[in-house]
Amino acid sequence: MSTVEAPAKKRAQISARTLRTDNWRSYPIFIVVLFTTWVAYATVRAMMGKYYWVDEYNYLTPFYSPCVSTECVPGSAHFGTFLPELPFFIPFAAVSLPFLLLFRLTCYYYRKAYYRSYWRSPAACAVREPHKKYTGERRFPLVAQNLHRYFWAAAVIISIINTYDALLAFTDSNGDFRMGLGSLILLGNVILLWGYTLSCHSCRHIVGGRLKNFSKHPLRYRAWTLVSKLNERHGQYALITLGSLVVADLYVALVSGGVISDPRII
Ligand code: FES
Repeated sequence: MSTVEAPAKKRAQISARTLRTDNWRSYPIFIVVLFTTWVAYATVRAMMGKYYWVDEYNYLTPFYSPCVSTECVPGSAHFGTFLPELPFFIPFAAVSLPFLLLFRLTCYYYRKAYYRSYWRSPAACAVREPHKKYTGERRFPLVAQNLHRYFWAAAVIISIINTYDALLAFTDSNGDFRMGLGSLILLGNVILLWGYTLSCHSCRHIVGGRLKNFSKHPLRYRAWTLVSKLNERHGQYALITLGSLVVADLYVALVSGGVISDPRII
C-alpha cells in the first residue's frame, strides 16, 4: 500500500511584501493618529488639575473621577480625599486612571489595533511583518495581557462610580432634580462606557464560561446571550467611548472655565 506524504510545512516564497491591492494601510494609520491624539489629550487633561468640576450643576469630568486628592476642589470629591498633595504628574483620580488605562491597554480589541498599527505585527492580514520572530503573548511582558479580567473587575467598579457622578449631574446643590445639556452628555457617556465594559470578551466568559451546559443555568444563559450581542460591537464601543470621554471632559472643562454656559432644560 502506498503512503501519502503530508505536504511540506513551508510558507509560500513570495518576495512581494503583500499581494493585497486594497487600501490596507488606512486602518493602521487611522489608529495611530487617533490613539496618539487621544493619549496626548487625556494626559494633558488628567494632569491639568483644573476645569474638571462645575459646582453649580454637579458636573464632574470622568477624567477626575473619583477625585481623591486633598487638592480636589470642594464638592468634587464624593468618596473622600485620602491622597495628600500630589506632584503635578500624578492625576487627582490616581486610584482609577491607572486601572482604566490597563483595562484598555489589555483589551482584546485595542491589542489588535495597536499590534497592527504601532508594532506592525502584522500591519494587516496577508501583509508580511518586519519582525523575524513571533513569540505571541507567552512571555513577559505580553503574558501580562492575561490580567485583563482583573482590570475588567476594576473597570466595573469605576463605571459604577461614573454612573453615580452622572446621576449627581441631574441635581443641584440642594439635591433637587435639575437637568442641563451637561447632564445628558455625562449620562450618554456613562451608558456608552457600560456598553464597552459589558461587551468585553472577559465579561462574556465570566458570565457564561466554565459551564457544562446552559440548560441548568437559564439566568446565566440569558445574561450570556445579552453580553454576546453587545460583544459583536465591542470594537465600535471601544472607539466610540474614546470620543464620548473627550466630549464629556471637554464640555465640563468649557463650562467650568466659563467659556460656554450650560443650556438648562429643567
Ligand atoms: Fe475589550 Fe475586555 S476585551 S474590554
